[in-house]
Amino acid sequence: MQRTLVKNALRSDSDCESILIQGWIRTRRDSKDFSFLAINDGSCLKNLQVIVDATLPDYTKIDQLTTGASVSIEGKLIASQGKEQKWELAARKIDILGIADHTYPLQKKGHTSEYLREIAHLRPRSNLFGCLFRVRSRLAYAIHTFFQERDFVYIHTPIITSSDCEGAGELFRVTTLDPSKPEASKDGIDFSKDFFGKPTYLTVSGQLEAEIFACALSNVYTFGPTFRAENSNTSRHASEFWMIEPEMAFCDLNGDMDLAEEFVKYLIRDFLNHCQEDLELFAKFVDKELLKRLEFVVDREFKRIPYAEAIDILRESGKTFEYPVQHGANLQSEHERFLTEEHFKCPVTVFDYPREIKPFYMRANDDGTTAAAMDVLVPRIGEIVGGSQREERLDVLANNMKEHNLNLDTYWWYLDLRRYGSVPHSGFGLGFERMLMFITGVANIRDIIPFPRTPGHAEF
Ligand code: 4AD
Ligand code: MG
Repeated sequence: MQRTLVKNALRSDSDCESILIQGWIRTRRDSKDFSFLAINDGSCLKNLQVIVDATLPDYTKIDQLTTGASVSIEGKLIASQGKEQKWELAARKIDILGIADHTYPLQKKGHTSEYLREIAHLRPRSNLFGCLFRVRSRLAYAIHTFFQERDFVYIHTPIITSSDCEGAGELFRVTTLDPSKPEASKDGIDFSKDFFGKPTYLTVSGQLEAEIFACALSNVYTFGPTFRAENSNTSRHASEFWMIEPEMAFCDLNGDMDLAEEFVKYLIRDFLNHCQEDLELFAKFVDKELLKRLEFVVDREFKRIPYAEAIDILRESGKTFEYPVQHGANLQSEHERFLTEEHFKCPVTVFDYPREIKPFYMRANDDGTTAAAMDVLVPRIGEIVGGSQREERLDVLANNMKEHNLNLDTYWWYLDLRRYGSVPHSGFGLGFERMLMFITGVANIRDIIPFPRTPGHAEF
């Protein structure tokens, strides 16, 4: 007999003489003539209630039907007497697939997220994490839909690369050299002996390669893992995270900000329209203000302000910040959150940042001091998107690179794009996990990633 998912059994529009359900036991309750099992197979948040009549031959197995055990149950789908659910399953035949003894860690009482992180191999079986990872999958689908509907081409950029796009020195090295061998230590390291014949790293961004494709296919996007050896143990930074990077030829910074804002709104609306059950759980157990905040963002224009104005607002706010606010300095998370949560009370797109604090590839504005950069800031997270118009003028780009102490020979191909048919182009990066944190209300990035990698943590 073919298996029915719990989700589909619960949505059935008629009873059914015989169906097969397979899943894990969440709870068992015994009464005199019956036992009640709650079965979950991960297809949805809700469990299917199964009634096991004490007269059933398989009732002899009842003591083994404990929380965590996996089972295969055949029976009749009938209208439920209880008001908790519409349908329930009257068991006819029960097969135990795998037992779980009393040491099974996910017993009925709720566990903290911190504890569940230590058992990341079992946490997807909990209500909250089941929802989170189903929503993660839905969000990935919505991202592809957004771009595919708009004729963007999906590009796979390399994970191993020899360039440092962001220039922040947060690279994980990829090497096959043995650190204990003399050739790797005599006069420094001889990278010609390394696997690729030169120093290589895990990518921090697919942007530079995406630019190549935008300068051929017009509108492209990447969606893949990126890696940063940033030693900041915050709730919003992971060493391995996924990023979506659209890149558009013939597009300036305004077009870039338009797309970023439309994209963020689209993803929130998709979640509101398709993940009702999950949203209810998050709104109840994770963040009571969630629905209000999401609806607010979907309904409103984002505020757009130049960096200089953002600094003035922060300075005039009279608030004391941990990090000083001054023209020329980077905005810290506390500043970003003040702007979006307290001052404007809506998402804020800050643009035209000082050139000195931004990477080499950003286009220099005519004022000589700022770059055509932008960040989208949202409540509770701060920066969710970072992007810019790219420097398309060969001479200006080459100068920028020299100022950043980059070796022009290494980036010959990047410069070639400006040599042959250069076009204005722009793009941005949306942090996939930050977006998930925003739509679910989850406060720690470690709880949004199936197996988080952060300084000192690479278990599983
Ligand atoms: O602002 P970032 O560093 O921009 C870039 O990488 C550009 N190359 C993007 C582009 O223009 N194509 O990173 C983009 C976004 C941030 O806004 C943030 O949401 C997320 O990536 N992000 C991180 N997410 C989790 N953990 C980290 N350590 C992150 N660093 C950046
Ligand atoms: Mg950034």
